[in-house]
Amino acid sequence: MIAIACDHAALKLKNTVKERLESKGFEVKDFGCHTPEAVDYPDYAKAAACAVASGECEKGVLICGTGIGMSIAANKVKGIRCALCGDTFSARATREHNDANMLALGERVTGVGLALEIVDVFFSTEFSGEPRHARRIAGITAIEESAK
Ligand code: RB5
Repeated sequence: MIAIACDHAALKLKNTVKERLESKGFEVKDFGCHTPEAVDYPDYAKAAACAVASGECEKGVLICGTGIGMSIAANKVKGIRCALCGDTFSARATREHNDANMLALGERVTGVGLALEIVDVFFSTEFSGEPRHARRIAGITAIEESAK
């Protein structure tokens, strides 16, 4: 199951990404928003990120105007590694190196064609499992455990 959420600035791209994921055979759980009425992106980031952190959803996609607010908010949830990507190189690298479990996109920044390529790459790339990358991810987790 893939979690997806957006704010009012990204409703159109969220629906397009959702369709793309479903066409690839993924089940998608949509955490909203569902209308163009203005909302606060942290509420939607939190709902989808908590579903990923709890294991209810395996990965997630968060979309707002820039992708920045959604990614900042999601990364406050323990266990979330949310990567804001505007290119396919980053999408591949963040799966291989960071084992990112959420992808953030900005509808006002990234065109729909590129956004869908980013989604395709993110969801078809595995974590490399290389010890140096696993060690660095453990370092991120250690920050979560110790930082105040
Ligand atoms: C909404 O206007 C906008 O601030 C939001 O979609 C996002 O870009 C925040 O980071």
